[in-house]
Amino acid sequence: MKDRSSPSRGLVAAIGLAALVAAAPAAAQAQKPTPSKAERAIKYRQSALYLLGWNIGPISAMVKGEIPFDQDAVVLRADRLAQLAPMIAEGFPADSQAGAPTKAKPEIWQNVDDFRAKAAELERVTKKFAATARTGDRKQIATGLGEVGGACKSCHDKYRAE
Ligand code: HEC
Repeated sequence: MKDRSSPSRGLVAAIGLAALVAAAPAAAQAQKPTPSKAERAIKYRQSALYLLGWNIGPISAMVKGEIPFDQDAVVLRADRLAQLAPMIAEGFPADSQAGAPTKAKPEIWQNVDDFRAKAAELERVTKKFAATARTGDRKQIATGLGEVGGACKSCHDKYRAE
């Protein structure tokens, strides 16, 4: 005869319940559709560009005198810009014009060579800027930052929607 109140039975039930509870979020996750290739590319490029903006901000504030000049911070952030710049082009594959909210203009995919040239120009000037940052020469840093900002702007003016 089965003893319904046996401790082992209670334990089994508890384990079963714990498994159910643990499985519930996993099941909810599984129901979420996998992001499309385009969605993932859009997220990737917006992340890389967001990081560029994040890292250029403090350098710009230092050059403007809004925050104290800190050469180590300039070098650190200039290095990051140089590392991030080569990631941009990869974030704009042919099939990523739509699929998630994006400010990328369709012109990008009609002028791929020009768009890539603008990304390459950012790579060039950020690499140069990483070297300039190491000089600690504030005037050269201001000029270099202007060059980097110019490369951002030249692409945004043509290929980023307002
Ligand atoms: C080769 C072209 C190109 C260059 C160079 C470029 N950008 Fe952009 N940027 C874009 C495009 C296109 C978007 C819109 C992307 C989207 O919404 O899918 C964008 C979006 C952004 C965003 C918004 C990201 C977000 O949160 O969605 C920031 C911030 C940004 N760029 C900063 C910069 C900075 C800073 C530089 C220079 C250091 C730079 N970009 C250089 C093309 C460029």
